[in-house]
Amino acid sequence: MTEGKKFNIVIAGGGSTYTPGIVKMMLEHQDSFPLSSITLYDNDGERQAVLGEALAIVMREDAPNVAFSYTTDPGEAFTNKDFCMAHIRVGKYGMRKLDERIPLKYGVLGQETCGPGGIAYGMRSITGMLEIIDYMERYSPECWMLNYSNPAAIVAEACRVLRPTSRVINICDMPVGTRRRMAYIVGKDYDDLDVRYFGLNHFGWWTSVKDVRTGEDYMPRLLEYVGENGYLTQKAIDTQHMDASWIATHKKAADLLKLDPQFLPNTYLKYYLYPDYVVEHSDPDHTRADEVIEGREKEVFGAAREIVRKGTATGGEFTVDNHASFIVSLARAIAYNTHEIMLCIVENNGAIANFDDDAMVEVPCVVGMNGPEAMCQGKIPTFERGMMQEQVAVEKLVVEAYTEGSYLKLWQALTLSKTVPSAGVAKLILDDLIEANKAYWPELK
Ligand code: NAD
Ligand code: G6P
Ligand code: MN
Repeated sequence: MTEGKKFNIVIAGGGSTYTPGIVKMMLEHQDSFPLSSITLYDNDGERQAVLGEALAIVMREDAPNVAFSYTTDPGEAFTNKDFCMAHIRVGKYGMRKLDERIPLKYGVLGQETCGPGGIAYGMRSITGMLEIIDYMERYSPECWMLNYSNPAAIVAEACRVLRPTSRVINICDMPVGTRRRMAYIVGKDYDDLDVRYFGLNHFGWWTSVKDVRTGEDYMPRLLEYVGENGYLTQKAIDTQHMDASWIATHKKAADLLKLDPQFLPNTYLKYYLYPDYVVEHSDPDHTRADEVIEGREKEVFGAAREIVRKGTATGGEFTVDNHASFIVSLARAIAYNTHEIMLCIVENNGAIANFDDDAMVEVPCVVGMNGPEAMCQGKIPTFERGMMQEQVAVEKLVVEAYTEGSYLKLWQALTLSKTVPSAGVAKLILDDLIEANKAYWPELK
């Protein structure tokens, strides 16, 4: 953008458990990404204020020259901003619980972004995302939105269809965390690797992992390692995904690899390739939402309350992780036109040569002042292509159901999901989800 500029940032979903990590990351990198102001925006003022009060103390102590505020007023939040870092959860953990529990009642897996739970969440997220995109465009037409809000695949398709010219970049931190594990496995650092990848969000494969300088091919070593251990590593290398359920997910990658031993799988493929296993290992009375409430949410909000109680921060309360580092690197790449390669969710348009042009795919992109420009990944094999065709149709049907208010299209989406065994089961789940989401979904006819 411009030399010497200091950036104005709004974080939408200011009350998110990930907000403190991103703020801290930005404070630690002011030499390469100078800040003028940080504003938090949320539509739940009470929740946001807990983090806002604590971060006001952190900011006063660590960055007194950077303006800081938190607000529920869209005009105040979005005016004069360069970047909006978004991570909203429409319906919060209360609705996530229902997304996970309702399908389990019918023997179908309950997951935040995959299967019926992800579809239900998608139908809620579209409304919230359109709202914040419109605020951004009204108050800061030049601003970029870097969006983590899930389910990123459905959100990205909704952006493509409903806000095609908006400056929104949809991203995911899972491949970043997994790549960190890969680097550790081969004794290298994250930036030492040069990777190729194709897929949809939470639905993809690495086709190549090489040393960025020497060109050494790490795939044979990684395939052997993952075939035995999944992505499980001795050392806590990706601190974000460390709960017991995540450890089981990293391990399960060994079984994902068996389906195609030439590519390294994204951990989320477990929900599509082994849904029966996932259901067997689920407790319908205690799902991942409960773990997050008892874990991450309690830790982050507990740390915030402690800072406020003491009136000072020791510096160790909030931690940065992959999630924070990726979004700040992305902002920097746009701001300084660095042309770094990062995975983003973009319209295919030939990036995957034998896949639909209008599918939102996750591929390596060159990122600069024009946003992400997809790198061509060539043709993909029949197995992966078949799986992706089915899943992308689910995602498109959800957005069509939303825009047309169509019950039939949403029933088709659920039926087509690889996680659902039949149209009959899909209908039972759908009817329960409609009841649970009355306050959030458009009316379906
Ligand atoms: P959280 O519930 O702690 O925070 C979400 C916040 O969004 C809440 O404070 C809530 O009040 C707010 N919110 C909801 N609707 C809003 C709206 N319309 N406008 C403004 N604010 C709104 O959730 P979390 O666990 O911290 O996760 C936040 C989001 O980030 C989720 O969507 C999650 O799935 C996503 N996430 C994505 C990735 C990725 O790889 N893309 C990684 C991590 C988290
Ligand atoms: C990964 C995914 C995110 C997802 C998160 C869920 O980071 O990339 O898309 O939201 O895991 O984590 P949780 O701990 O909330 O289940
Ligand atoms: Mn993700």
